[in-house]
Amino acid sequence: MASATKPVAFFLLIFLFPFSLHASKSADPTPAPWPHQFHSILIMNQTQTGALQVNDLWYDWPNGRNFNILQNQLGKLTYDLEWDNGTSYIYTLDSDKECRVLHFDVGILHPNWLDGATYLGQQYLDGFLCNVWEKVDFIWYYEDVLTKRPVHWLFFNGYSAHVMTFEEGAVLEDANWQAPVYCFLDDKEEEKRNSPVTEVGVRVSKGVPGRFIREVINASAGLQAVIEGA
Ligand SMILES: *[C@@H]1O[C@H](CO)[C@@H](O)[C@H](O)[C@H]1NC(C)=O
Ligand SMILES: *[C@@H]1O[C@H](CO)[C@@H](O)[C@H](O)[C@H]1NC(C)=O
Ligand SMILES: *[C@@H]1O[C@H](CO)[C@@H](O)[C@H](O)[C@H]1NC(C)=O
Repeated sequence: MASATKPVAFFLLIFLFPFSLHASKSADPTPAPWPHQFHSILIMNQTQTGALQVNDLWYDWPNGRNFNILQNQLGKLTYDLEWDNGTSYIYTLDSDKECRVLHFDVGILHPNWLDGATYLGQQYLDGFLCNVWEKVDFIWYYEDVLTKRPVHWLFFNGYSAHVMTFEEGAVLEDANWQAPVYCFLDDKEEEKRNSPVTEVGVRVSKGVPGRFIREVINASAGLQAVIEGA
């Protein structure tokens, strides 16, 4: 009797053990897709330099646009307006009238841009218990276990965001999505003179979140992004 049950138990062990491993793997949580429209205030820390920014972020997928309104600490207020067709306007609204137009071969982030991220488990971040994922070694993403709202993300180059507010469904009025006229002057001289200005220029090359986000999509999609005139 006993000798007959042993092989059965062994059989169950070898065949059910991998199955239970697989079952626990497919039960890993997945990041909540981004709401199609939201407004978020982010504290950005470029952790390699310690430079701080407040990002007033308006994500608007149905209208194919994304806005990063960036206040640099005791510095410039910079507008980074991204269209899904790949055009980004990076400008100031002060008397310097600076504007830079960049073109990327990738659009704005898709609401499901975190699909396929690797689950790393749970961790406390900013005092919130979070599920953590990593995607293609480019981003680490922390989501509140209870509310499924993003709490924090960190890009591989040190660009980090702490989510202070997250208003699902909030939409910025159309009038605010109009880049200023000096972005449309087709004059290279003018563009050079007014261009990105040290601060914006440096930040662009080091990775404005908008550009950086496009680079992330670029990298994860394996697409070639082209920056005109840069
Ligand atoms: C920004 O990040 C750096 C590096 O992690 C850290 O030392 C610094 O305290 C952070 N700044 C703030 C205001 O949290
Ligand atoms: C993309 O859309 C914006 C907003 O409508 C427009 O200003 C820009 O010229 C477009 N870019 C291209 C390459 O069509
Ligand atoms: C986009 O990706 C390609 C290769 O996948 C890379 O060569 C290129 O530098 C990337 N562009 C940007 C702006 O990151």
